Amino acid sequence: MENDYIYQVSAVMNKRPYLLVGAIAVLVGLLSRCSDQKPRSADTRGAAYADATSCASCHKTIYDSYATTAHAHSSAEAEEGTVKGHFSSPLNTFHFANGTDVVMEKQGKELFQAVKVNGQEKARYPFDIVMGSGRKAQTFLYWSKDQYFQLPVSWFVPADGWANSPGFPADHPKFDRVIPSTCFGCHSSDVKVREEVKGINITEKFERREMIAGIDCQRCHGPAAAHVQYHTENPADKAAHFIARMDTLTRQQRLDACALCHSGLKPMYKPAFAFKPGDKLADFIIPTVPFPKSRTSWTYTATKCNCWRPASVSCKARP
Ligand code: HEC
Ligand code: HEC
Ligand code: HEC
Ligand code: HEC
Repeated sequence: MENDYIYQVSAVMNKRPYLLVGAIAVLVGLLSRCSDQKPRSADTRGAAYADATSCASCHKTIYDSYATTAHAHSSAEAEEGTVKGHFSSPLNTFHFANGTDVVMEKQGKELFQAVKVNGQEKARYPFDIVMGSGRKAQTFLYWSKDQYFQLPVSWFVPADGWANSPGFPADHPKFDRVIPSTCFGCHSSDVKVREEVKGINITEKFERREMIAGIDCQRCHGPAAAHVQYHTENPADKAAHFIARMDTLTRQQRLDACALCHSGLKPMYKPAFAFKPGDKLADFIIPTVPFPKSRTSWTYTATKCNCWRPASVSCKARP
């Protein structure tokens, strides 16, 4: 927005120098009006949530180190830069059987998986959403008629190459695997979804690329609009207000806060998005199967800060 004004001002300058003073006055007026306004959240999760980037102003060190974590990149809008794999020949092609290839292509700003049979293009599907930070792998979703579908070719880091998505057939590319919102519940911070009920069928309908990418601060710390507002208005108060205190949670509550996403896929009563620190995982999980034990050790180290941000940043580091 501000860039637009600056651009307009310089365009005016080129043409009619005498308008410059007026234009600057307007610009100054606009900027000071902006700064008079209270910070208002544009966050799609509702008024209790602060804008996902707002934490940076007071927690810069934590924010910057968080930005390098797998959590921050666990999902993204697909574009050059967020999709890690190769897009130039010959490394951009994955071969299926009978002369069928899927070729990763750029067209303007958009990225596509194009199906080619003996070199002839039959169809192309856009990369819309990236799932996975690309430590090990990335898989991709395209959006069509209000649903998300997984693309048949994924990116595998150890192999430095494209291959068919896990569980997909090896002999032909398949484009009809519907992706549910649970996928976003563990990999993003919000997704725009509604349920369409027809008889006994419930279909999830999404809006294209409408999500808050990555697992942001408020997925782990809970809604923080009141916290941001209080500390913006009371900069001298150095004690935390209106935010869940991690150090007052019981060991089980701390484990649950990570196990929500780190104990495998399970049927749920409520979307994972609704979970806040202090909640009981048992209130979210439908106990159809014995509650799975964590396979990995790090859920048991949830009280150490190194488990979610690089070791080089100390817990007590402050901007
Ligand atoms: C205007 C300044 C300001 C903003 C913006 C801000 N905070 Fe804070 N926050 C503080 C202060 C001050 C403290 C208390 C000192 C400390 O722990 O850094 C604090 C403490 C915290 C704590 C530690 C609570 C505890 O004691 O266990 C968490 C967690 C936290 N903030 C999360 C967030 C999140 C998430 C955001 C963004 C949505 C955010 N803060 C934005 C000022 C701010
Ligand atoms: C909202 C879901 C969610 C929550 C809550 C969550 N995680 Fe994760 N975590 C993920 C996902 C998804 C990944 C995989 C990210 C990727 O690489 O795409 C991940 C990756 C990780 C990794 C491996 C990546 C790395 O940086 O080494 C660790 C360790 C981890 N999480 C620890 C934790 C701990 C500890 C907690 C609790 C404090 C926690 N997570 C809470 C979803 C979550
Ligand atoms: C119950 C939570 C949960 C759900 C649901 C979930 N994931 Fe994950 N996903 C994780 C966690 C946790 C990791 C990290 C695992 C690890 O590193 O041990 C992960 C890792 C990944 C990775 C590898 C990232 C990397 O670079 O290491 C991809 C790709 C991925 N998930 C895609 C998906 C897709 C696509 C869906 C939906 C069909 C999905 N996930 C559903 C929790 C979840
Ligand atoms: C994966 C979950 C997770 C995410 C994402 C996360 N935190 Fe935390 N955070 C924790 C846990 C668990 C603790 C308590 C243990 C600790 O100190 O590491 C904590 C502690 C804190 C503290 C108090 C202790 C300290 O080191 O100062 C602050 C402040 C904080 N986080 C802010 C943030 C901000 C700001 C973000 C986003 C940039 C963020 N956190 C993202 C899980 C998370």
